Amino acid sequence: MKYKAPRGTHDIFGAQAEKINKLEQTSRQVFRKYNYGEIRLPTFEAAELFSRSIGETTDIVEKEMYVFSDRKGRQLALRPEGTASVVRAYLENKLEQNLPLAKLYYIGSMFRYERPQAGRYREFFQIGAEYFNNPSPAADAEILLLTKDILETYGLKDLSIHVNTLGCLKCRPKYKDEIKKYLKNEKDLCEDCKRRIDKNPLRVLDCKKDSQKINNLPKIQEYLCDDCNNHFNDVQDLLKQADCSYIIDHNLVRGLDYYTKTVFEVRSAGLGAQDALAAGGRYDNLIKHLGGNDTPAVGFALGSERVMLAADNLKLSEKTIKNKIILVAVVNKDLSKNAFNLVAKLRKNLDEGSSLAVEGPFSEKSLKSQLRLADRLNAAKVVIFGEEEYARGNVILRDMSSQSQQEVNIAEIEKLIFKS
Ligand code: HAM
Repeated sequence: MKYKAPRGTHDIFGAQAEKINKLEQTSRQVFRKYNYGEIRLPTFEAAELFSRSIGETTDIVEKEMYVFSDRKGRQLALRPEGTASVVRAYLENKLEQNLPLAKLYYIGSMFRYERPQAGRYREFFQIGAEYFNNPSPAADAEILLLTKDILETYGLKDLSIHVNTLGCLKCRPKYKDEIKKYLKNEKDLCEDCKRRIDKNPLRVLDCKKDSQKINNLPKIQEYLCDDCNNHFNDVQDLLKQADCSYIIDHNLVRGLDYYTKTVFEVRSAGLGAQDALAAGGRYDNLIKHLGGNDTPAVGFALGSERVMLAADNLKLSEKTIKNKIILVAVVNKDLSKNAFNLVAKLRKNLDEGSSLAVEGPFSEKSLKSQLRLADRLNAAKVVIFGEEEYARGNVILRDMSSQSQQEVNIAEIEKLIFKS
């Protein structure tokens, strides 16, 4: 083979394509319940939009962005995430004035130059939402419950929801200074952490290698201002009221710099190192930082491939997302046009949202191999056009599970198939 998909990318087809479609469909339904509208965004943006939003010293901006210049020398980047783009769109399209409520969702692929492994790709799909201009803890709780709702409606169970607060520009700097002091006295930190002490000390908190030492560091909760403290308590009260269990995780800091106050991650046991299915939080400074008014915001994104992996681990039945197939077969080629006509008619008359699919005819194949195909497709029924039956105005309707068949009038076929 001469050509291969680039490292870290993958083709999605067959059962996996069914699964990702089902996940996207489920998400759209849940988004509708929560009153989020779709936004479609460009796949590339000015590179600076991401470096300013996500943070110059984050892994994403330092090492993972696909940056290129176009023919006019503009520095562009394939989007590594959706939040910065939605904020750009919110400002550019004046959505603050133009929408009564700015609650937006997006579905699309993101690009990060990471080391590929199970659940980690260089092009991957996210489903995310952003809720603008609501400073209330209720908006944080809504986003969290929305994330959980999507994952549970898709069929996942046993999720663990980790929450933390990162404070705000008033209280966080004090905490940062404090842990910097502690970290400077720690001798055996890993190379990454040593590098981060000055640039981005909070990131040290989620280092897997140094987790023992990190557990002894002061916790941000002790440094929060009243506003941040009350906000975090209120978010927790709302989650408890909604019967949503969660774990307070003092070391959850996230790899993007724009967060303030609430951050969260939804994990699934059994996914190994890449166990974060979804993540998000509040980012009250980003919109102003990108040139807008002071506008609070909160959002989340889930990784579709990881959600599908978690579903595989649970062995969610694939049958539930498969269409029931009706295969129309012909005994000899002379009837293929008539058979094709029936296929077209059946497809046209299927109800919207029907779970039936109509397939065939494969007039170049023998009847035997058409029936073998029906078997492999797990077809429910086969309609067979045979010469003698057709002369009588009939076809054969074969039930694949009972292997029984009957001769029926062609005018009746639609009724018989649709009612089954
Ligand atoms: P994030 O944590 O960088 O947050 O990504 C969200 C989710 O995308 C992760 O939990 C994971 O499931 C998936 N993901 C990330 N990187 C990869 C990868 N290389 N391969 C496969 N899946 C991956 C954000 O992107 C924020 N924009 C979320 C947000 C929205 N915060 C506020 N609003």
